[in-house]
Amino acid sequence: AEPVAPDVKGCNKPTLPQGVEPLTCCPPNFEKKEPIDYVIPNYQTLRIRKPAHDYDNLEKYKKAVNIIKSLPDDHPHSWTQQSRVHCAYCTNSYHFSWIFLPFHRWYLYFYERILGKLINDPNFTIPFWNWDAPEGMEIPAIFIDKSSPLYNARRNQNHQPPMLVDLNWNGNTITHSNYTVLKAICRGDRSGDVKANLATMYRQVYEVKRPICFYGKPFRAGQKPYSLKTGSDSIELVPHNTIHSWTGDSTQPNDEDMGAFYAAARDPIFYSHHANVDRIWTIWKSFGRNDVIDPDYQNASYVFYDENENLVRVKNNDAFDTKKLGYDYKQLDLPWLKAKP
Ligand code: C2O
Repeated sequence: AEPVAPDVKGCNKPTLPQGVEPLTCCPPNFEKKEPIDYVIPNYQTLRIRKPAHDYDNLEKYKKAVNIIKSLPDDHPHSWTQQSRVHCAYCTNSYHFSWIFLPFHRWYLYFYERILGKLINDPNFTIPFWNWDAPEGMEIPAIFIDKSSPLYNARRNQNHQPPMLVDLNWNGNTITHSNYTVLKAICRGDRSGDVKANLATMYRQVYEVKRPICFYGKPFRAGQKPYSLKTGSDSIELVPHNTIHSWTGDSTQPNDEDMGAFYAAARDPIFYSHHANVDRIWTIWKSFGRNDVIDPDYQNASYVFYDENENLVRVKNNDAFDTKKLGYDYKQLDLPWLKAKP
């Protein structure tokens, strides 16, 4: 049977915001190739992803990103290709449904495998942006060093450290909570918004019990994509979307890079933001909550280039347990569990 899949053929014509130069987002040569079914390697050791504020792989990561950025655009592993993976699928709205979590899990998985391959370290792991705990509630230092390949200039200049991230960001420069933060910074303390952020985490993650409310609406084979308002659910709307737009540069037409789907993955911080979303998914499941059981969900599939430049098809069903994919997250405190609003 035909796999249930978001149709990557739309990659020639991604939906773009008005005024953005046309671009195509197709994986190189994908029309000429038949994807093969991906077989997960038999991993012997677990790779442990660590928080960006306490990350011991920085030199390797920089080296790998320098290499990937030096590849020609049409190389299946190039930096441009990595960001196009996102626009091939995402600008055509495959975000706003239950595909959101597993799709991004696979996306990061191959990103990490490719970087590891380029530096010859099969155990390489990317860092996650631990925005759900006070230690991580600002742009992590590894992303603000201007001489680093992890730096990106298209970010909101008013949101540089020590400005605290606002998980409820609604796009206004002075929201109430932001105003509290400004005052707190002037007083020399930076704890202004921690409480609000923790309460948001409690509400958006711990309190959400039904899988469908956490993951997003069902996406069925052949169905037209949803919109942001009709298909997304708790985790995607807040804090996933709010952090995207909080990070992007509000002086750009569409809050590029992080605030616009077509451009978000050009910013290296994108991958660490999503690693935390992915981690929160594992934490949510550790509360004893179940995955969606529905064939349309389990069989949904995507096409990626793997680290050996094979065009492969992967399924949601293989993405429910990160340990099967050979990785896990460092266990950290979850202060938001005690932050019932
Ligand atoms: Cu596909 Cu955070 O976006």
